[in-house]
Amino acid sequence: MKNIKYDFESVIDRKNTNSLKWDLFDDDYPMWVADMDFKVAPAIEKAVQKRASHPVYGYTIVPDALFESYIRWWDRRYGFKMSKEHMLYSTGVMPSISSMIRCLTDVGDNIVIQSPVYHVFFYVIEDNNRNVLENQLNYENGIYSIDFDDLDEKLSKSKLMILCNPHNPVGKIWSKEDIAKIGELCRKNDVVLISDEIHCDLTDPDAKYNPFETSSDYDKAITCLSPSKSFNIAGFQSSIVHTKNIHLLEKIKTQMHIDNSDSCNVFATAAVIAAYNESEDWLEELKEVLHENKLIVNDYLASELPIVKLVRCDATYLLWLDCSALKVPSKVLSGFLRTNQGLFLSAGSDFGQCGDGFLRMNIACPPELLREGLGRLKAGITALNIINKGLY
Ligand SMILES: Cc1ncc(COP(=O)(O)O)c(C=O)c1O
Repeated sequence: MKNIKYDFESVIDRKNTNSLKWDLFDDDYPMWVADMDFKVAPAIEKAVQKRASHPVYGYTIVPDALFESYIRWWDRRYGFKMSKEHMLYSTGVMPSISSMIRCLTDVGDNIVIQSPVYHVFFYVIEDNNRNVLENQLNYENGIYSIDFDDLDEKLSKSKLMILCNPHNPVGKIWSKEDIAKIGELCRKNDVVLISDEIHCDLTDPDAKYNPFETSSDYDKAITCLSPSKSFNIAGFQSSIVHTKNIHLLEKIKTQMHIDNSDSCNVFATAAVIAAYNESEDWLEELKEVLHENKLIVNDYLASELPIVKLVRCDATYLLWLDCSALKVPSKVLSGFLRTNQGLFLSAGSDFGQCGDGFLRMNIACPPELLREGLGRLKAGITALNIINKGLY
């Protein structure tokens, strides 16, 4: 690993901070929800503290500097050219997707997602009284890919598709060709496409994701972007929606206003600008650290727990563990690890029934915590083996 300047090793006690990850349940080792146990980049901490030192926290406007920080970041890093008039500020990716579902589809309409996928996609569709149509990903020889024939068929009955790019939980970076093909099928079936790119910065150090809007010329495409995963600032609830389609943009703007999902948090502004303008070197180091953690998991499973296979992952810090050889439903397995070892991993079936047999593990933590989690995983599976009379 290259020389690392920032601190990704110290274990920070997050208990009693109203942390969803550490304070919601009593588990000792939460490795489920997607936030990181690292402190933020120093520039972000400084910017938030500076804003906090002014003791009036009234309503705030979204400054041009915030949009400009997004524009420069995506242009410089990914060749994705955006302009302010095509962007809308939002209080998060899921609030904006929820608003878009309401203004772009009607009650009872079908919406396509590619399972196994981020479980909240299911909830947001169902909570809005729309139907989920699953275009299940193919899984062969440890590799995930898209079943395009099935996608075409599902799109022919739908108005909207939500793409996860890169894909949570299987860690896949969709290729330019995959994206272009998705765009073509959406055009053929006249389906609006939302590309959720919240995990896009968190690729392996030498890998790059492909923005939907630079890989496809489909004119009914919308992109959701946010610094919340990349810089560990999900608690500020801040994102943007981008589309060059003015007709869609106007509809979304109106709906987000009705839903009150377009207002800005006074600290979010400072944090986002400091992230994109001053914290790129921190992000590059983070990617090295996450890659190293991935290698730790890979080596550990190969030598200590070969019955569990790590699915190849090029992006996100959420590892997808193939536990199908254990022949235990993933909810039972994850429940057992919690009661037996205090280790909380997400059950694969939370991401769609086709995720059964898998566990999702969040590895965005200092190596000390990661090794403890892996030790508990092994101890839990050993205990299960004793109960199952040496089945594995
Ligand atoms: C794919 C994906 N989209 C959206 C979100 C949540 O975004 P937000 O907190 O901005 O609503 C997550 C969080 O894990 C995610 O994995």
